[in-house]
Amino acid sequence: MTGLVEGKAAIVTGAASGIGAATAALLAEEGAGVLAVDLPGSPLASVHAGRERIVCLEMDVTAPEAGPAIVRAALDAFGRLDILFNNAGTVGKGGEVETHDEADWQFVIDLNMTSIYRLSKAAMPHLKKSEAARIVNVGSVRSDFAESGAAAYTATKHGVAGLTKVLACELGRHGTANYIQPGAILTGITRPAFERMPDYAKYWKERAPVGRFGEPEDIANAVLFLASEEAGYVSGIGLWVDGGAMCHG
Ligand SMILES: NC(=O)c1ccc[n+]([C@@H]2O[C@H](COP(=O)([O-])OP(=O)(O)OC[C@H]3O[C@@H](n4cnc5c(N)ncnc54)[C@H](O)[C@@H]3O)[C@@H](O)[C@H]2O)c1
Repeated sequence: MTGLVEGKAAIVTGAASGIGAATAALLAEEGAGVLAVDLPGSPLASVHAGRERIVCLEMDVTAPEAGPAIVRAALDAFGRLDILFNNAGTVGKGGEVETHDEADWQFVIDLNMTSIYRLSKAAMPHLKKSEAARIVNVGSVRSDFAESGAAAYTATKHGVAGLTKVLACELGRHGTANYIQPGAILTGITRPAFERMPDYAKYWKERAPVGRFGEPEDIANAVLFLASEEAGYVSGIGLWVDGGAMCHG
């Protein structure tokens, strides 16, 4: 039996931890060659040690040259590009608009949104050569929803929704673009925050009717579906993977 993405070539950003690490591993298990990208000095190589189909690249996705450099590395490794998973992201320092630090605002925009624009721009001409191109971006439940605080994060995750819809239009018949909307997933971003704020953790855990936090593998399974040829008529949407947390008031 062949895998769901057998013979495809993928780029996964933020691949040393959490959602990105689980997704890189699953796409490789399902037959894709994966260029796994994360920050210089991250544990990327040790996280994926022994995974034959994964090639690691240490690079900051916010560097101006990151788009062409990452795409070039994928083409050098696999000779083709079919799947782009734009996952690297940050919540930044957060805070309400009145007190939000401008440097942090810019940092969050550069990482959560501009890096997706740059990498998609460099990838697009090569994705259009694939018989089933796939872009999957990581939004959030905060691509639709807001509360006080996390201004930059919320703004960028709404931006990811809009940018993905544009990419779906521009990929046209060459493939699809969609974004995932994770709920509360236990990763490097959330674990420290949930430990610091147990009431907040309890709220999100209980908000999900399935009664648990999400695991990175829950998101990886959804990405695998969107990346597969089976999802060829699903484009321009946000897919909630939140245990039902946002389906009620
Ligand atoms: N965990 C959740 O509950 C949750 C919910 C909604 C959305 N998300 C989104 O999921 C995505 C992945 O986050 P996660 O929860 O797996 O967190 P994580 O901290 O476990 O993983 C993020 C990875 O991105 C890498 N990264 C950060 N800046 C980078 C840069 N400039 N260049 C390259 N790599 C960089 C980090 O080193 C890290 O390995 C983010 O976009 C986040 O906003 C997460």
